[in-house]
Parts: sequence; structure tokens; C-alpha cells
Amino acid sequence: MLNIAVFCSGKGTNLQAIIKTIHEKDIEAKVSLIISDKEKAYCLERAKHAKIRAIFVNPKNFPSKQKFENRIIGYLKEENIGLIVLAGFMRMLSPFFVQNYSNKILNIHPSLLPAFKGSANAVADALDYGMKITGTTVHFVDEKLDNGPIVLQRAVEIAENDNEDSLRQKIQQQEHILYPLAIQLFVEGRLKIEGRRVEINPENYNPQD
Ligand code: GAR
Repeated sequence: MLNIAVFCSGKGTNLQAIIKTIHEKDIEAKVSLIISDKEKAYCLERAKHAKIRAIFVNPKNFPSKQKFENRIIGYLKEENIGLIVLAGFMRMLSPFFVQNYSNKILNIHPSLLPAFKGSANAVADALDYGMKITGTTVHFVDEKLDNGPIVLQRAVEIAENDNEDSLRQKIQQQEHILYPLAIQLFVEGRLKIEGRRVEINPENYNPQD
């Protein structure tokens, strides 16, 4: 059984979708830990309901980023975490942290990367840019922001009458399918990183899942 930690700063709708799918599809993994850098983040409430250990780690309580991350690493070790899932965690991890969990950190970004790389509001930015298509990307985390090898992407069409809320909803609907699927592929050992490319072992893999 692979222990997963989910890091989040906000509502936690992706967290919820991940917990639900792991349960429904009987994936050999368990969300064992939730870390948030925001005390009032609703993802912490969701964790409580799901009876998962959830910890608010206040970055302001640490004199340096490294000390903040060391505390988190301590929690990860306690729970024997084998995969870290960033789900709306609005804070960049240092190279030190990423090297500690090399190829074991996934992130989701609400655009078709590399479009709107590094944007804190990629949904609004796609609208402002006049894009006709945007989407979402699940990728491995490396030392640069929104940069690591891409696991899965899904496109979303932007309608004339879309606003930020309606577009975010459409993107998140796709995220709630895509992120659990990427996690399942990781857990089943079907992802192989070759440079920038991620090969997906087709065995049992159905993109329509
Ligand atoms: C998600 O849409 C995710 O793509 C985005 O934050 C949202 C979190 O929603 N992440 C980023 O923008 C990272 N750069 P949630 O808390 O409801 O899962």
C-alpha cells in the first residue's frame, strides 16, 4: 500500500476527488497525510471529515524555507510517504525538497503547459489572452516552476460567454478525472520518465476511464 500526502492551500476539490476515486477504484494507495500552509483552508475540513491526519504548517513560524520544509519532511517520514500530490498548493518547493522526493511529486496546473507556466491564476490569464482552448496538466515536479515532465493533459474549449467562474468549473471537472487517473498510473508503476517524456505502460490503461 502506497502512502500519499496531499499538499493544498485552498478548497480541496481535487483532494476530494482523489480520496473518492482511490476508494471507488480500490487503488492500492492511501491518502495518509494532508499538509496545508493556510490555516483556514477548506481542504483541512475535508481531511477531518475523511478522518485523515491533517496538519497546518505555518510558514511564518519558521526562520527559513529550509526549516519549514524540514518540518514537513519530518511529517512525511512519520507516515512513510511514497508520493506527494500538490493539489492547489500555492507555494514553490525548494530544490532541496524536490531532490529529497525526486520523481515522487506530482502537480496539477489549470492550463495546457507550457502555456501560462508560473501563473497564479492561469484560468483568468487564458481568458484575458483570448484563448479558444485551455485545459489542465498533471506533471512531475522538478526544480523549476510548472516545468517537470508531463503525465497527462486534457483540453477544455472556451465558449464566448465563459467567465472566470464558468471556465474554472469546466477545467476542474476535467481535473477531478485526470488527477486521480495520473495517481492511479503512478501507484500501479505504469509511468516511466524518459527525459521530458513520460511513457505510459498501456497495460490496463484506458484514457476514457
Ligand atoms: C486547481 O484548479 C489547480 O489546478 C490549481 O488550484 C486549484 C485548486 O483547487 N493549481 C494551481 O493553480 C497551481 N499553480 P482545489 O483546492 O479545489 O483542488
